[in-house]
Amino acid sequence: MTEAHGHPGLFVTLEGGDGAGKTTQAALLEAWLADAGHIVVRTREPGGTEVGVLVRDIVLHHRGEVAPRAEALLYAADRAHHVESLVRPALARGEVVIQDRYLDSSVAYQGAGRVLGRDEVRDLSLWATGGLLPDLTVLLDLDPAAARARLDADDKPFDRLEAERESFHERVRAEFLALAAAEPDRFLVLDAARSADALAADIRSRVASILG
Ligand code: TYD
Repeated sequence: MTEAHGHPGLFVTLEGGDGAGKTTQAALLEAWLADAGHIVVRTREPGGTEVGVLVRDIVLHHRGEVAPRAEALLYAADRAHHVESLVRPALARGEVVIQDRYLDSSVAYQGAGRVLGRDEVRDLSLWATGGLLPDLTVLLDLDPAAARARLDADDKPFDRLEAERESFHERVRAEFLALAAAEPDRFLVLDAARSADALAADIRSRVASILG
């Protein structure tokens, strides 16, 4: 594996709205890489560590308002601990980390609330992680109405953010697309309305090209 990003491993993140199919794609990519002999760590934010599980419970299941700056700090705290205790050590060992959500989620979701600016949310995460950026970020782009239909079919109760208004999810989507446009080398943007197999094939081919 090349060491283009200051570590011998590979850091892949999956982003997109709720219901875009990140979990399915993470599982398919993990299976493919493991078959090829890589050691794969699959994880997520919020909640990839024991501390993170506690933070996840506050940000997703607390009833009532959480002040926007407090919410941004909670995600950043989860991220700081996760990166230091799990992600960086795995990358240093040369492993592949496949992660459901990372700092782009903070910019898109916390920034889309309109109270906090894109740059301040991003800077907070960069401070929290010592500047760790993914080698590849797969954005599964999906119209919020289609995503909503998928979540409805799931029959699980909505968490705090899933229950936000449609306009919020439109802004989140637009913010993800703007982030991808600003960093085209890091992002792979895919139309998540396509079949899971077709999406997985595109993701595999990008990852294969990075691995050389
Ligand atoms: P998600 O990871 O999709 O978990 P689940 O599959 O169980 O719904 O949901 C986490 C929620 O947290 C999602 O609505 C996006 C939100 N979120 C933020 O607002 N900011 C962040 O920095 C992260 C990582 C997630």
